Amino acid sequence: MSFGKRTEAPMTISIRQIHPVFVGEVTGADLTRPMTETERAAIDAGMDRYAVLVFRDQNITDDQQMAFTLNFGALEVARGGNITKPHELRLKQGMIDVSNLDKEGKPLERSDRRRMFNLGNRLWHSDSSFRAIPAKYSILSARSIASEGGNTEFADMRAAYDTLDDKSRAMIEDMVCEHSLIYSRGSMGFAELTDDEKAMMRPVRQRLVRTHPVTGRKSLYLSSHAGNIVGWLVPESRDFLRDLNEHATQRELVYVHRWRQYDLVIWDNRQTMHRVRRFDESQPRDMRRTTVAGEAMTVEQAVAA
Ligand SMILES: [Fe+2]
Repeated sequence: MSFGKRTEAPMTISIRQIHPVFVGEVTGADLTRPMTETERAAIDAGMDRYAVLVFRDQNITDDQQMAFTLNFGALEVARGGNITKPHELRLKQGMIDVSNLDKEGKPLERSDRRRMFNLGNRLWHSDSSFRAIPAKYSILSARSIASEGGNTEFADMRAAYDTLDDKSRAMIEDMVCEHSLIYSRGSMGFAELTDDEKAMMRPVRQRLVRTHPVTGRKSLYLSSHAGNIVGWLVPESRDFLRDLNEHATQRELVYVHRWRQYDLVIWDNRQTMHRVRRFDESQPRDMRRTTVAGEAMTVEQAVAA
């Protein structure tokens, strides 16, 4: 044995399913340290199987969170996903601020435009489905939590697909939807956007049925950002998508995550939807996200990305 080297035995990662349909809780991982290839592969395989993984007691820094994220692909560049201006950013590039805080660490004013925009996260969605190449994983770290409320709920879109009847599955097989922040925020009554913001939020096309590249399982690719089905009239699109969303988020297919400080949750945006619930916004709720970029478009785009 030589001094200065790690002498602890390597930890073994194990995953236990904590919901009847999906979601695993991981033990034996320390995310403040670099992962071994064996650990990385175990987590990746867990993601393919459970679609959402929960880690407890991970008091990590932003750099550690970004390093952990890079195990699973490239960091998604946050450009174009919100209305926060560069000088208002609280966190460094690569970190996505999903807290309720301003740059000084104070809760945003009730009428703050950023707060109005962020309220859209309370709608069921898949992160970055409004991007031509949508996100793979999202990784959310709870640095501080509200004393009450603020649960994040997840719905399994593979189970949602599997539980559709044959006729519906055949009907939607090749359907393509248009996704945009304009639709999700518009449905909340937030429609005052500058021309630049509207240009940034130009709709992109996404297949409604996705096939997982590793497991081959099909899933519904729904999101509050989806506001139209290509070739359909808008009201009939919305009616149909509303029905599908209702089916996909039935209670049996939903896991409710009750946050503890230093929880870290990873979810696969290709296989799940999520939403955050209300909480007391006078308290700081410091949640920090990193995002693993997706690898491909789900369908060819009508316009350049
Ligand atoms: Fe989200």
